[in-house]
Amino acid sequence: MADNQGPIPLPQSGEPGTIAVDVATQQYAKPTYHADQSGVPPKLRVSNLSVTYIDRNGNRTEAVRDVSFDVLDKPDSGEIVVFLGPSGCGKSTILKAVAGLFPPTEGEVLVDGKPVVDVGRDRGMVFQAYTSFGWLTVRENVEYGLKLQGTKKSERRKISDSILKSVGLADFAERYPKDLSGGMKQRVAIARTLVNNPRVVLMDEPFGALDPQTRWGMQSLLLDISRAENNTILFVTHDVSEAVYLADTIYVLSHRPARILHKVDVPAFPVRDIALKSAPEFRAVEKKLLDLIYAPAKS
Ligand SMILES: Nc1ncnc2c1ncn2[C@@H]1O[C@H](COP(=O)(O)OP(=O)(O)OP(=O)(O)O)[C@@H](O)[C@H]1O
Ligand SMILES: [Mg+2]
Repeated sequence: MADNQGPIPLPQSGEPGTIAVDVATQQYAKPTYHADQSGVPPKLRVSNLSVTYIDRNGNRTEAVRDVSFDVLDKPDSGEIVVFLGPSGCGKSTILKAVAGLFPPTEGEVLVDGKPVVDVGRDRGMVFQAYTSFGWLTVRENVEYGLKLQGTKKSERRKISDSILKSVGLADFAERYPKDLSGGMKQRVAIARTLVNNPRVVLMDEPFGALDPQTRWGMQSLLLDISRAENNTILFVTHDVSEAVYLADTIYVLSHRPARILHKVDVPAFPVRDIALKSAPEFRAVEKKLLDLIYAPAKS
């Protein structure tokens, strides 16, 4: 049993069963993660990734330090890899580097063994802030990427009909983003990303601003999409419950600069539904994570 009586503050509760990672905590259990990248590169390999931002005045911010991980392509099933870490630690930076939005300061990102040098259609990103074009309807937003690729109008329509249905927005296809709630806008952003059928989907705290009920719905939607699309999803959160609910694998990150401290494999729960969140086997994984995050460092 972990000793929670020490000087480290107890984590704060959000939605039932949810404990958000506390920013103030500075101590960790001794890191247990060591990357083994001796084999052939799998679907996605991030190798010794380090990112330091330098602003116009030459101020340096080291955001990510020596992050390495592999994501295998599980045959015939989607895969969700979650990054769990405190605010400001460098989570978005890791995703942006995988997206190819900037070159790493050190290290490399390989998709199917090929180095990422730019953004590409094989990777799609859902950003932390809602990112729809306000002057386009929901349908036009969703079809935007297809239009750029030169997909014919009738084909675009078929694809957008199907994806809008799967994110529950079929009735809102001709509306503008300003008429939608936060959760609906985020579903538009997700649909816009998925419509290009990316092999790697990068999701940066996509449900962070949603109320618990909408958030649960979106989490279930994401699990359905992952199963149906057979893609790899890298998902960032600082919410322990969300991490366990969604992930096949969880990487626990340190404070800035982000380093991987622990890798936790989540059991293949036969059914992932709301009831699971209060089940003992679910709570056991949450506790394991909390012990790793909050247990004082051992020398
Ligand atoms: N474009 C930038 N220029 C300079 N510094 C930046 C830039 N983007 C991020 N940073 C800094 O890098 C660090 C990591 O930022 P990042 O956005 O990756 O954190 P995060 O883990 O995603 O945080 P949050 O949970 O709050 O979204 C922060 O200290 C941030 O101030
Ligand atoms: Mg972020």
